[in-house]
Amino acid sequence: MKVVLPRHIPFGFIAEQFGTPIYVYDLDEIQSRIERIKKAFSSISFDLFYSIKANPNLSILNIVRDAGIGVDACSAGDLWIAEKCGFNADQITFTGVALENKLLSMLHGKGIRTNLDSVSELKRWCSLSPARPVGLRVAPDVKAGFSEHCRGGVWGEKLGIGLELIPILIEEAKKNGVIVQGLHMHIGSGMLEPAPILKAVDRLLPIFEHFRQLEYLNIGGGLGTSYHDDEDEIPLEEFALTLCDKVKQFIHKNNRPLRLQAEPGEFISAPAGYLVSKVIVKKIWSRNGERRECLILDASVNHYPAGVLYNSMNRVFLLHDPDAPATHKYDIYGNTNQSGDRFGATRYLPKVGEGDILVFGSCGAYAASRASTFNEHPLAAEVVISQGRVALATKRQTYEELFGRLIPELVWIKS
Ligand SMILES: Cc1ncc(COP(=O)(O)O)c(C=O)c1O
Repeated sequence: MKVVLPRHIPFGFIAEQFGTPIYVYDLDEIQSRIERIKKAFSSISFDLFYSIKANPNLSILNIVRDAGIGVDACSAGDLWIAEKCGFNADQITFTGVALENKLLSMLHGKGIRTNLDSVSELKRWCSLSPARPVGLRVAPDVKAGFSEHCRGGVWGEKLGIGLELIPILIEEAKKNGVIVQGLHMHIGSGMLEPAPILKAVDRLLPIFEHFRQLEYLNIGGGLGTSYHDDEDEIPLEEFALTLCDKVKQFIHKNNRPLRLQAEPGEFISAPAGYLVSKVIVKKIWSRNGERRECLILDASVNHYPAGVLYNSMNRVFLLHDPDAPATHKYDIYGNTNQSGDRFGATRYLPKVGEGDILVFGSCGAYAASRASTFNEHPLAAEVVISQGRVALATKRQTYEELFGRLIPELVWIKS
């Protein structure tokens, strides 16, 4: 799927005004992607949640709230920002990993719709008073996701509860007065084909047939988007049509309601985000007829870890001439002292020089939210655009903030 650099975003102005590296988010694009998902599933009872972990920027969460959808939280930090942004308990769904008692009690106390990921958590939930309904995250044993680091539904691994255990757990919870009211799955991220999700849904629906108390099926996130011109995003409307049909058939056959839920992150925010960076050094290696050209940026693995984690090949544009033919071959590196700090493998671009600005696409999810300060580089600023307006949404981190937690005078407390 061919994507060009959007002309309505003043990347040059933003770089000049706020410096680089910098993230830019198109809030109108985020809003239109939310509306697209809502419309695709509008023929059934459907709850949409934006997965905060993809990008917790407050401006994005405000758009999500104003669009009338909820949020998916996975940590106490997610809950904190969701509440700060004005989401009520009934607009939050929570599916985390290895929940400690303090967090379990908090979720229970606030009445947040929680999907538990282990037998241990369910046992501890059942001991809380008063008894409150809960959901369970199931591992439907379907291998999916664009990388083995992003698989969430395989038997015997870290995430979810084995399908075979679910009916037993539902019965046991009932004995403790706890109603399991929904099943959740998130089988992987970045899925470009609907087939694995549909297969997993087919494995979960028979459990719903046995337990009338189950009210919702949450299919998690995982709707994949296009990172480079050789791949297409998941066919959302076609997928939604098939899934809605499945849900309608279930409702008709069993003569009872069923709510479908989804909590995508990447699909909503990834394509709406950009990382803008300056070329600081161009290195030319040449010997015996062999030539390599390396571009070293002011951004790094710190700003976009997926480049290194998954060798992601995000679209990259030369800002001052984005449509010029990509005649030159470059290796693009980040500015940390790590040889593997690269923005994907070898890339083709028009001729690039030092001082030129590069814009990476699809950086609206799992970029800023995964950023680090390796090599003591402060976190980058974030800018949002909407209807032709530009605003700073997150300030660049200062060295005072970066090092502010360090305690210069140690206070020894145990001798
Ligand atoms: C439980 C859960 N829900 C939703 C998501 C969002 O996934 P994605 O960004 O792939 O849509 C994730 C991502 O890891 C997740 O773990």
